[in-house]
Amino acid sequence: MIGFGFAHAGCGAGHCFETVNSHMEYSSEAIITGVIEVKKIEAIIKPFKLDEVKEALQEAGVQGLSVIEAKGFGRQKGHTELYRGAEYVVDFLPKIKIEVVLPDDQVDAALEAIQQYARTDKIGDGKIFVSTVEQAIRIRTGESGDDAL
Ligand SMILES: Nc1ncnc2c1ncn2[C@@H]1O[C@H](COP(=O)(O)OP(=O)(O)OP(=O)(O)O)[C@@H](O)[C@H]1O
Ligand SMILES: [Mg+2]
Repeated sequence: MIGFGFAHAGCGAGHCFETVNSHMEYSSEAIITGVIEVKKIEAIIKPFKLDEVKEALQEAGVQGLSVIEAKGFGRQKGHTELYRGAEYVVDFLPKIKIEVVLPDDQVDAALEAIQQYARTDKIGDGKIFVSTVEQAIRIRTGESGDDAL
């Protein structure tokens, strides 16, 4: 996305309004129309941290989230990690993936919350990935974009 200077102009209290400046070039419809961008955070965490992370995300204002039971490995390839006191000798360790789709002005608070509450300072604490969501629709009402969240 190219949006020189105005990428986050006028953000606050849940709304961002961008000013269209005819001297600037924009490659994103979102910036021209002032739509709040919708982001997705995928956080892979240790299963026993789920409750704390969920509560912290709710306090950060998220409206909804999904939880997916996952298995995975990181740099240690699963071999040296402990899970429930036992050293796993398999490649895949049980993890939880949290998916939360949220307006871009909640992203920083959500990332802080996840990092603070998922962290044990031991290997395997997980990863967080952030991406942009193309479209969001609330099925019951047909609302779209950030209104759908
Ligand atoms: N690059 C990746 N892509 C997708 N999922 C990943 C990736 N790296 C890690 N994961 C997922 O996150 C889980 C936890 O990763 P982990 O925290 O062990 O990463 P790491 O890089 O090994 O860091 P650390 O050294 O702190 O253990 C993995 O079991 C896997 O499910
Ligand atoms: Mg690891």
